[in-house]
Amino acid sequence: MVKDILVVKDLQVWFPVRQGFIESLVSKEQRYVKAVDGVSFNIKEKEIFCLVGESGCGKTTTGKGILRLVEPTGGSVKYYGKGKEILLKDMISDALAKGKITKAQAEKMTAEGGIDVRALHKSKMKKLRQKMQIIFQDPYESLNPKQSVYDIVAEPLVVNGIGATEAEREKRVVKALEDAGLRPPKDFMWRYPHEVSGGQRQRVGIAGSLVLEPEFLVADEPVSMLDVSIRSEILKLMLDLRDNKGLAFLFITHDLGVAYVFSDRIGIMYLGKIVELGPTEEVVKHPAHPYTKALISVVPTPDPEMRRNQIILKGERPDPSNMPPGCRFHPRCPFVMDICRKEAPATVFVSEGHWVSCHLEKGQAK
Ligand SMILES: Nc1ncnc2c1ncn2[C@@H]1O[C@H](COP(=O)(O)OP(=O)(O)O)[C@@H](O)[C@H]1O
Ligand SMILES: [Mg+2]
Repeated sequence: MVKDILVVKDLQVWFPVRQGFIESLVSKEQRYVKAVDGVSFNIKEKEIFCLVGESGCGKTTTGKGILRLVEPTGGSVKYYGKGKEILLKDMISDALAKGKITKAQAEKMTAEGGIDVRALHKSKMKKLRQKMQIIFQDPYESLNPKQSVYDIVAEPLVVNGIGATEAEREKRVVKALEDAGLRPPKDFMWRYPHEVSGGQRQRVGIAGSLVLEPEFLVADEPVSMLDVSIRSEILKLMLDLRDNKGLAFLFITHDLGVAYVFSDRIGIMYLGKIVELGPTEEVVKHPAHPYTKALISVVPTPDPEMRRNQIILKGERPDPSNMPPGCRFHPRCPFVMDICRKEAPATVFVSEGHWVSCHLEKGQAK
């Protein structure tokens, strides 16, 4: 059986809303932007799991919450990748030495083997982050224009104290550039970000993540700032990294078309929640949630018949600091019923590994 590398349960990232003076007199209640509001999913080894949803639904915050680049306010994140062994051994022998746990408990913990990411001390989190990396959307903003490609890619090694000598570090930088498809590496190492193309810039960013030899990557809209012509090259690179290095991906995109060609499973996100989740092919061919159906209906297609069936969502994009009651999609749902305005739908089974949260589905509850 394929093992999980990551299990996220009920993840919650709420940001407190700063209130004005008058507002704070009228209402004592602290309001929150509920960017991520109870998100659960797992990612298997070597899997590409895609989070899809329109801008502002909480995709980036989910990715950052998992890596604790923003601190979650609730839920759990468990990491099961191989890199955890080093950390786990450390922590268990530490706790054992301090008499905090018994030998039997230590053995049980080693066997169960998940790292509770949210419980990690900052110094340990830094260590774990070598195995869990993020690739950002904008290769123009995320690279320091004053650093050479070599310095950019070597920086994570320096920060994490990896590589005893410069020669050792150089070897790893060269390897990372090669793995990111910048070949021959010597042609790129001494250039500056403005001296390479957009696609190459994104590859430099990816090399900077690869240099630490991660097992799991969060790729946050890694192609949406790139020209269409080079998007598929970068996507292909990520597929190669999965196939050749066994990397697992949380791939974030607002573009269902990209998710369809690229991912193994999809989670459709709406206003801080995953409303439908399942194998990519299954979700796209047999969508159960009206929001998923709407997203699929607007994916560009040359088929005029399909274009005629487009579902254009009405209404404004909702505000995560002011959630609608009941099902949070109800104000825009073409199939809204009375119950949708009052009760949040349960998550129900659609087919093998395929779940949906919608009152229209009457399947068995999860
Ligand atoms: N640091 C923050 N403080 C307050 N609100 C935030 C912060 N980061 C994100 N948000 C809000 O959380 C919601 C989700 O944002 P984000 O995760 O960036 O969405 P997405 O990546 O899907 O476009 C948005 O309404 C955004 O304005
Ligand atoms: Mg985003």
